[in-house]
Amino acid sequence: MRPFVSIAGVYPISYCGQRIALRELTRRDASAVHQWTGDSEAVSMIPLGPTRFSETRSYLRQIEREAGARDRRVYTLGVIELDTEDLVGSVGLTIDSAVHRRAEIGYIIRRDRWGSGLGTETARAGLEIAFDRLELHRVWAVCDTSNTVSAHVLRNVGMHHEGQLRKDLRIGDQWRDADLFGIIEDEWRSQDSNGSQS
Ligand SMILES: CC(C)(COP(=O)(O)OP(=O)(O)OC[C@H]1O[C@@H](n2cnc3c(N)ncnc32)[C@H](O)[C@@H]1OP(=O)(O)O)[C@@H](O)C(=O)NCCC(=O)NCCS
Repeated sequence: MRPFVSIAGVYPISYCGQRIALRELTRRDASAVHQWTGDSEAVSMIPLGPTRFSETRSYLRQIEREAGARDRRVYTLGVIELDTEDLVGSVGLTIDSAVHRRAEIGYIIRRDRWGSGLGTETARAGLEIAFDRLELHRVWAVCDTSNTVSAHVLRNVGMHHEGQLRKDLRIGDQWRDADLFGIIEDEWRSQDSNGSQS
């Protein structure tokens, strides 16, 4: 018999690190969020957009609904750059199994901030929330096999390459092969701040 397992939803979630903070997104963030959802280059390797402004607003309404769900499974949080207080990206955790305490992580950073370490800090903050706040057991990610920067970010935060999935991602009008990465709670707890196992 399938055991009944639930994970208590947490709302609101906030986080403060050295260079970034995370907070819940609301529909008032549409202009800032549209800077990446509407940017065809920023979303060229992920299954999101590019969106029209009205679609960005719908996307934020969906994020609000998911955040307010009683057994919340989807956490899409805004990334605030502490120096400027600008909203510069988002990180998402989607719990795909309560039984297995497992979630997928994904993230995006506004293009004018690429290459300054924010992606790595964002992914690390997402893992901290997954393991320390949501008490998950495993976090996984998939990225387009040509997304070498994201693969680099995932390795930076201690995630392991676990294989390739054929034609796993629908991006634009193409089915793309994906690299699968994962990290287990024990590995997260035994790594130092650089993502290396200690
Ligand atoms: C992936 C993404 C979040 C990275 O953000 P970022 O702020 O540029 O990331 P960082 O600066 O922390 O790190 C990038 C790393 O990739 C490395 N890198 C940069 N260009 C690279 C390249 N062409 N090949 C390999 N590695 C590269 C950098 O050296 C850096 O590694 P380091 O910290 O060891 O030096 C950003 O590019 C993005 O939003 N992309 C679009 C959305 C996306 O692909 N999301 C991931 C879905 S799986």
